[in-house]
Amino acid sequence: MPTQTAYLGLGSNEGDRAGHIQQALQRLAAAPGVQVVRTSSLRESTFVGQGPPQPTFLNGVVELRTSLLPIALLDLCKALEAAAGRTLPAPRHHPRPLDLDVLFVGHERVDTRDLVLPHPRWHLRQFVTEPLRELGVDVATMPRALAAAVIESPAAFSARTTQWLAGGCTIGLVPTMGSLHAGHGSLLTMARQECDRVVATIFVNPLQFGPNEDFAAYPRDLAADLQLCREAGADAVFAPTVAQMYDPLFCSHVAVGSAAEGMEGAVRPGHFAGVATVVARLFALARPQRAYFGEKDAQQLAVIRRMTKDLGFPLQIVGCPIVREADGLAMSSRNVYLGAADRQASTVLVRALRSARDVFTRGERDRDRLLARARSVLATEPRALVEYVELRAEGELAPLPSGPVLQGRMLVAAKFVDGVRPVRLLDNLSLVEGS
Ligand code: PAF
Repeated sequence: MPTQTAYLGLGSNEGDRAGHIQQALQRLAAAPGVQVVRTSSLRESTFVGQGPPQPTFLNGVVELRTSLLPIALLDLCKALEAAAGRTLPAPRHHPRPLDLDVLFVGHERVDTRDLVLPHPRWHLRQFVTEPLRELGVDVATMPRALAAAVIESPAAFSARTTQWLAGGCTIGLVPTMGSLHAGHGSLLTMARQECDRVVATIFVNPLQFGPNEDFAAYPRDLAADLQLCREAGADAVFAPTVAQMYDPLFCSHVAVGSAAEGMEGAVRPGHFAGVATVVARLFALARPQRAYFGEKDAQQLAVIRRMTKDLGFPLQIVGCPIVREADGLAMSSRNVYLGAADRQASTVLVRALRSARDVFTRGERDRDRLLARARSVLATEPRALVEYVELRAEGELAPLPSGPVLQGRMLVAAKFVDGVRPVRLLDNLSLVEGS
C-alpha cells in the first residue's frame, strides 16, 4: 500500500497529561499501517475557546507515515481518545484526557461532517504551528482550508451541496439579496451554530420587483458582502447572475395564495410570487435541512413557511429576531438611502409599535384601540407616509376580527421620500414578547 506523510495534533488537559500523550504515541506506533516518524516536544498552552474556564493544555505534534485512508486515521484517533478515557461523543469545550486532531494527510482535501482536511484552523493555532516548525515543517507552504468559495453557476452550487450531503453534513441556507448588515450576520451566526455547513446566497431577484420598483437601484456591494459572509463563518457563497439563475427558457413560477394577500402583497402585487419562486429554486438547488429568514419581513416569512409546507420541502424554516440600531430602527439594506431628517424620523415606526405593545401589556385588549394607539404615534411624524398598520395573528398572520385580541403581531409600513430616493420601511412587533 502507498504511504503518505500525516501530522496529528496532540493535546491533553485532564489527568496525567504527559502520560496520556505518551501512551497514545505507543499505541499509534503499534497500529497497523502507521509508522511514527518524529514527535515534537510538548508545551503548555492556555485554552482560548468558548465555554467554561479549563486547565491548561499540554500540546505537541506527531509526524507519521501511513497507508491508512484519512477517515481510517480519524477512526484510529477516536479509538485512542476513547482508550484514554474520553467520553465520545465528547461535549465541546470541556476538559479532555486526550485530543488528537488530524491536521494533514499528504495534500488530501476532505470535506465531510466528521473530517475536514487540511484542518480548517491549524494555521491560527500557535500550539500547532510552533511544534510543526520544530519538526522542520515549512508552515508557509502547508495547505490551508480554502476561504468560503464564491459559486456562480447553479450546477456547481448543487454539486457542492451534494458533496456535503454525501459527507453526512447538515446544510443551513441563508438566502439574501446582498448589501448585508448585522441582521444578516445574525442569520449566518444562527446557521453556523446549528448546521455543519452554511451557505449564504446573494442574488437580487428581479422576479420580486415590480416594474416601477427599485431593482436597478437596489444597493449592491459584493466585496463587502463576501467579507461579512466569511467573518460569519459561511462555507460557501452562491452569487449567480440573473442569466445564470434564470435561463432564457425559464417559465415556471410558484403561485402564492392567501398568505400573500394584504399588507406587502397589496402594496407590491406579484412580489411574493417572485420571492416564493426564487426561494423554491434555492431550496431545490441546495437541499438544506434548515433555511434562515429574518422576522423583519414577517409576511415574507409566513409566505415561505406556507409554501414550504404546501410543496413539501423537507426542511425547517427558522425565523430570526429583528436586529435593531441603537435607537430602535429595524436594520434593512435600504436604510442607507434615508436622508438625515428621514433617518431621525424613521424611529417613529418602532415607537408606534412599542407604544401599542405597552398599552397591551397594561391590559388593553381591543384590536381597534391598539391600532389607534399606534396610528396616533405615527401621526406625530409627518415625514412618515404610512401605508398600513395591521394587527394579525402570530404565525400565519391571519387577519384578526375587531374585538378582543389575546395575542398578535402588529405590522407597519411607511414611505420616506426626502432621501437619495424614496424608501419603504417595514417593522413589526409581537405584542406578547416584542423587543
Ligand atoms: O428577504 C430577502 O432578502 C429576499 O426576499 C429573499 C428571501 C432573499 C428572496 O430573494
